[in-house]
Amino acid sequence: MPTDAPADIEFSIPFVHRLRFTRDILGADESVLLDLLEPSGDLPPRVQFWVDESIAQAQPDLRHRLRAFVMRHEGRITPTGNIQVLPGGEIVKNDIHLLERMLKVFHAANLDRRSYIVVIGGGAVLDAVGFAAAIAHRGIRLIRLPTTTLAQADSGVGVKNSVNLFHKKNWLGTFAVPWGIINDSSLLSSLPDRDFVCGFSEAVKVTLLKDAARFSELCSLATRIRERDMTAAEPMIRISAEFHRAHITRGGDPFEMLEARPLDYGHWSAHKLEVMSDFQLKHGEAVAIGVAVDTVYSSLMFGLPKSDVARVLQCLDELGLVLDHPVLHDTATLFAGLEEFRQHLGGRLTLTMLEAVGRPFEVHSVDYAKMGEAIAQVAAFAKTQQSGRRKHRIG
Ligand SMILES: NC(=O)c1ccc[n+]([C@@H]2O[C@H](COP(=O)([O-])OP(=O)(O)OC[C@H]3O[C@@H](n4cnc5c(N)ncnc54)[C@H](O)[C@@H]3O)[C@@H](O)[C@H]2O)c1
Ligand SMILES: [Zn+2]
Repeated sequence: MPTDAPADIEFSIPFVHRLRFTRDILGADESVLLDLLEPSGDLPPRVQFWVDESIAQAQPDLRHRLRAFVMRHEGRITPTGNIQVLPGGEIVKNDIHLLERMLKVFHAANLDRRSYIVVIGGGAVLDAVGFAAAIAHRGIRLIRLPTTTLAQADSGVGVKNSVNLFHKKNWLGTFAVPWGIINDSSLLSSLPDRDFVCGFSEAVKVTLLKDAARFSELCSLATRIRERDMTAAEPMIRISAEFHRAHITRGGDPFEMLEARPLDYGHWSAHKLEVMSDFQLKHGEAVAIGVAVDTVYSSLMFGLPKSDVARVLQCLDELGLVLDHPVLHDTATLFAGLEEFRQHLGGRLTLTMLEAVGRPFEVHSVDYAKMGEAIAQVAAFAKTQQSGRRKHRIG
């Protein structure tokens, strides 16, 4: 060993982020999935499928089509037992026994680091299976097929996974770059309307932060998206996914080692609102409220033009996202969310605010009185919209 070696040596690892967009992944577009399943030396790769129960029920032919895919390509891939089904939503992240089951099934199938776990489901199932895959053998290759708009537009593209522990969300988890992500639009067809619009609050968030023209485009498509016009929804999911991916691959901090989380605009309150509402508020719904509040606050404090505030609130409303909830008015509890947000990352409190659409910046403190005013303005807007709709229905 040279004695003059420096004590600290920086090194970097070249990761690859594989993101695909398809419309019929188990039919016309099946080669996209097949191409991601690289042989393991001379041998066909071992592949195991995990499916969210809700989509398995809502799209009853999905399991049949998966089996047919496997049979068509026998020899090219090695299937490993039955298709595994898991409960969707937070249940899968709250039950540690399900994590144990996943690990046992991986073990029984002799999966190794060159095997593939293909997971088809909402963000919760992706998080839980992704965590199990990350810790088994210190990492089995994971291919995500997100089935919610939120997971396709945001979380599924990311590099995080987790389960909940000690009654705390995402307490147990890792950063792990998935082998690949396939955003297939046909998987969204069975999603309930309420979940369908949820993902677009993240699209509003990310375009607001990154690109004024894209934000305007999204606003102009909002009503069609709410009506589930896929010619409007698909490109916006894609744009949102690409912005999130660019942040991970080119933003310089994929594993969140710095104090700031610039894509978490509106999220300090969103996380707290979800918990305060006992998860009656879904993540996307809470994000819509959080984005609205921080947008009004940005205008009260930092001169974001009022006309832009009006556009943001209007856009979220046209998407069908409701901008008020009783828990929003318990500001004492809500403001405790600021400290929780800080603790999660460590270091100083760092929030992202906007001085203009497409021009975010960081702040390290909050004026509670002004934040209270922002909340009141968002709630007042929501009330006007609701009574407008009621009148409209009566009329
Ligand atoms: N890893 C990350 O970076 C990250 C980021 C944000 C959120 N998350 C996590 O994602 C989770 C939320 O994910 P989500 O918003 O995708 O919702 P979800 O996974 O909770 O799914 C919502 C409901 O829809 C069902 N479902 C999913 N796809 C369906 C389909 N196509 N048809 C019919 N039903 C379907 C699910 O079973 C569930 O009941 C939370 O646990 C959150 O913590 C993770
Ligand atoms: Zn989010």
